[in-house]
Amino acid sequence: MSIEDQPIFVTRPHLPPLEEFVPYLEKIWASRILTNSGPFHEQLEQALCKYLGVKHLALFTNATIALVTALQALRITGEVITTPYSFVATAHSLLWNGIKPVFVDVDPNTLNLDPARIEAAITPHTTAILPVHCYGHPCDVDAIQRIADRYNLKVIYDAAHAFGVECHCGSVLNHGDLSVLSFHATKVFNTFEGGAIVCPDAKTKLRIDQLKNFGFVDETTVAAPGINGKMSEFNAALGLLQLKYVDMAIARRFEIDKQYRQELGELKGIRLLGCGSEKRPNYAYFPVLVDDTYSVSRDTLYDALRSSGIYSRRYFYPLISDFPMYRGLQSAARENLPVAAACAERVICLPLYPEMTMDEVTRVCGVLATLGG
Ligand SMILES: Cc1ncc(COP(=O)(O)O)c(C=O)c1O
Repeated sequence: MSIEDQPIFVTRPHLPPLEEFVPYLEKIWASRILTNSGPFHEQLEQALCKYLGVKHLALFTNATIALVTALQALRITGEVITTPYSFVATAHSLLWNGIKPVFVDVDPNTLNLDPARIEAAITPHTTAILPVHCYGHPCDVDAIQRIADRYNLKVIYDAAHAFGVECHCGSVLNHGDLSVLSFHATKVFNTFEGGAIVCPDAKTKLRIDQLKNFGFVDETTVAAPGINGKMSEFNAALGLLQLKYVDMAIARRFEIDKQYRQELGELKGIRLLGCGSEKRPNYAYFPVLVDDTYSVSRDTLYDALRSSGIYSRRYFYPLISDFPMYRGLQSAARENLPVAAACAERVICLPLYPEMTMDEVTRVCGVLATLGG
């Protein structure tokens, strides 16, 4: 197979050199501490607080369980305002808590929850807002907080994409009441599977730690119907090693993002999303919007890329509000979500991962240019 025929996938998980992981495994084998807040788990929590510039962080087995637990930790009930333009786990976390999602449209520039539309969706049952920093691009955190303060609502950010992102005033993870990170294989920082809740105070962290361990307070006391959301020592050890390389990985992502922007910047009908308000972006994704002035539709472009062995993703399509368990909701109606609906039909995420070569970027851009030319 020549290099031109090698498949290019939308992502390729970043891994450290295997030989550097072996000493960590040897320690686990020697100690026989495999989980339940072991030494690597504690070290990773501290290391991540320092790296991310946050006060407290509780590790989890994945972000979905972390989202479910975050809602429990703040005792959220009733209705929660959220975005339809996200990965389905965002809204699923509400259904797992018996909460009704209320979908609000997104801003056409950021594709994040549009603060100007939130107030109209608030009812006496609304208790919280669950926005997503989509693609790692920060939400309008100040506007969202102003609304939350006015109506006495909690704010939980799904920050699955926002590892390391800084906005105007430091880590974007310090906004709202809680933020949830994902360390899934496809993310900027991965522990194979994993996640975390960022919280501002030790008391909330204690409650979260209890909830992720079946609700145990001590050996014989169970205070709440908690879940098993604990991260294992294997994943935590990997996280410690990954952290050594994450700046390098983000720097490499920046180079690839730059190359894409150079090669696609002038292409008619292709709008490059992102590079917005963040002071420190993480280049988690490379989403582009295919508009009417491009020669073919987004789906034709997607198929053409596939025929060339390039596997992009239509993130986020379909909209969450179009899945069967959500589409009956009043707020899921297309007329309520025109911007999100249009974006779901037009956005495509091009491959981006630290090991991607500039020749591969050029190969991807070549397909877009040939079709669009
Ligand atoms: C926005 C968003 N929220 C939540 C999740 C769920 O994360 P996890 O796979 O760690 O459960 C993902 C993706 O994986 C995501 O993209």
